[in-house]
Amino acid sequence: MPRILVVNGPNLNLLGKREPEVYGTQTLEELNGKLTDMAQELGIKLGFFQSNSEGAIIDFLHREAGSADGLIINPGALTHYSYALRDAIAAIDINAVEVHMSNVHAREEFRRRSVIAPICVGSVIGFGFYGYAMALSYFADVAGGRSE
Ligand code: DQA
Repeated sequence: MPRILVVNGPNLNLLGKREPEVYGTQTLEELNGKLTDMAQELGIKLGFFQSNSEGAIIDFLHREAGSADGLIINPGALTHYSYALRDAIAAIDINAVEVHMSNVHAREEFRRRSVIAPICVGSVIGFGFYGYAMALSYFADVAGGRSE
């Protein structure tokens, strides 16, 4: 069974409470629950991780990459400046999809730049929870899970 990592960066533990007009009212736990249901149907195993610390995310990726077939990552604000996270994803040589709940292009100028996007297969931006679901459907095809 393919294994896909689902990683959320700083402040995404506050989903549901944090700026609900931007990020919605669903908690990260609810979001992960929906993804788990979807993954079961698709024949995929998920490995979840959230941290507010850049180093903890990088350590997780180093540790888990060897046993993973893909990465779905919402790096939060690390998106816009973390060369260390970018290098970590490049170093582990994994198919990665970048997800953003909000439409970062319709917000502040600093959110328009992603240092992570160039080393990803693609980015899903502005679709809330569905961004993670879209990334998972993609992996169901490319990583060999069962898909429609
Ligand atoms: C975010 C967008 C980032 O700019 C922000 O720092 C986040 C969340 C999103 O999911 O829309 O923390 O990645």
